Amino acid sequence: MTDASAPTDLSPAERAKRAAAARALNYVETGMTLGLGTGSTADWMVRLLAERMKAEGLRVIGVPTSTRTAAQASALGIPLSTLDDAGWLDLTIDGADEFDDARRLIKGGGGALLQEKIVAAASDRMVVITDPSKHVERLGAFPLPVEVVRFGHETTARLIARVLDEHGLGGRRIALRGGPSGAFVSDEGHHILDLHLGAIPEPERLNTALNVVPGVVETGLFCGIASAIVVGYEDGTARVIG
Ligand code: 5RP
Repeated sequence: MTDASAPTDLSPAERAKRAAAARALNYVETGMTLGLGTGSTADWMVRLLAERMKAEGLRVIGVPTSTRTAAQASALGIPLSTLDDAGWLDLTIDGADEFDDARRLIKGGGGALLQEKIVAAASDRMVVITDPSKHVERLGAFPLPVEVVRFGHETTARLIARVLDEHGLGGRRIALRGGPSGAFVSDEGHHILDLHLGAIPEPERLNTALNVVPGVVETGLFCGIASAIVVGYEDGTARVIG
């Protein structure tokens, strides 16, 4: 069903993101502790959540997955907690850069993959908000973000190249996000390497192999974490997968 309360001046892409966010909020109940994702789709979710809290008296406590989301949520009056104070979350709602039919994701386009994965893993459910352009047969067209410590990051990239070789992905480009002179630094003080893989034949295996490389903090592969995917469409409708 189309959301009649959606502003009429939105671009088709924003309408789709808003539709996904609005539908995902159906999972939210008063009293919940809620993981708040990061990105432009999660932005909509935070805005709509704040509206519902004001309009309907919905009460939740949010655990943000980035300083960006923390700033947005607190500006909108959403009460926040840290993950450690909250302990365990009822639900996390977050975006994705890619998803496949097995509800596996690539995340981290916005650079928040580490906190996003920790928060999602500490939640009863993770609901992903997305749009049809993110659906793929095989993960990997979107460059896979891998968060690495700054110390020795060029060496870490060489070790990652070896792992890629062993997984039939030899010769793929590994790019330091932001480039050598303006390298991106995550909320946790790390760099991000974007792995231009094209296709990832076995995401679970690659995730495990990358995570044991010294210097790797976490990968943007989310396998077995998402419980449902809400796909928003340009006409303002949304569909739930899973
Ligand atoms: C941030 C993320 C985002 O969820 C992902 O990049 C999707 O963002 P958007 O909703 O803007 O397309 O993983 O680290």
